[in-house]
Amino acid sequence: MSVQRVLIVGAAGGIGGACVDAFDLAGWQVIGADLNTEHIPSAAETHILDVSDAGKVASLASRIGRVDAVIYAAGIVATMPIADTDFSVWRRIMAVNLDGAAHVAKAFVAPMIAAGKGGSLVFLSSAAGVRGEAMASAYSASKAGLIGMTQSLAAELTSHAIRVNAVAPGNVDTPMLREVAREISRNGGGSEAEVWNEFAKAGAAQRLVTPQEVAVVCAALCSPTFSAVTGTIVPVDAGYLL
Ligand SMILES: NC(=O)c1ccc[n+]([C@@H]2O[C@H](COP(=O)([O-])OP(=O)(O)OC[C@H]3O[C@@H](n4cnc5c(N)ncnc54)[C@H](O)[C@@H]3O)[C@@H](O)[C@H]2O)c1
Repeated sequence: MSVQRVLIVGAAGGIGGACVDAFDLAGWQVIGADLNTEHIPSAAETHILDVSDAGKVASLASRIGRVDAVIYAAGIVATMPIADTDFSVWRRIMAVNLDGAAHVAKAFVAPMIAAGKGGSLVFLSSAAGVRGEAMASAYSASKAGLIGMTQSLAAELTSHAIRVNAVAPGNVDTPMLREVAREISRNGGGSEAEVWNEFAKAGAAQRLVTPQEVAVVCAALCSPTFSAVTGTIVPVDAGYLL
């Protein structure tokens, strides 16, 4: 069997970077894309990409061709009350977290269907998409949107042997969560260390999730062993949603 190829979008991030390493370890050929490629782990071939630009996504798809799997780990967050949420902030979160996922699905599903060999898509949703998070309405809405999109695409594409799943992480130790802790602290929510401690204690297991724990689930969902698994939303949250 030829080597399987995976595209990881958001590969310079905490979870995306861990996905690069997990897929590399599992013997996949890894292609990583991000706004800035500097922090993408060296195992990946790298491409600069702004997911909110549909033209750039289509152009990347025409350059790299069909891949066997796509992990959508690009994302941004803002923590603020709705009354202070400027619509441009709301729009930017949707553009990256939800529109970008649609651009990527559109561009990379077409060559999968054309090749007739199936494929797998995994979207990084969030526990906040399953149970809306206070002070994060745009983020929660975008992540709930990804769940709807995952289930719809799974139903649409199963006849092409393309499986579509989402993971819903809880609090994962990455640059994104550290930025959220800084933002909450700046807005009077206590010291950064206190906020971080609250994050760690939020789940039943009373600890943060590691990016590697999320990445192995993404890789497993793309493995042929999971051939009957599609349309699922898998919490990887150390009991956050319990
Ligand atoms: N860290 C957590 O606690 C957590 C929890 C639940 C869900 N998630 C989700 O997991 C995914 C990965 O998060 P992370 O914690 O690794 O965050 P991160 O900030 O470390 O990584 C996100 C990556 O997305 C990239 N990105 C942002 N805008 C982009 C754009 N327009 N085009 C291309 N790339 C872009 C960033 O450059 C960054 O490398 C995100 O979708 C996030 O919402 C994270």
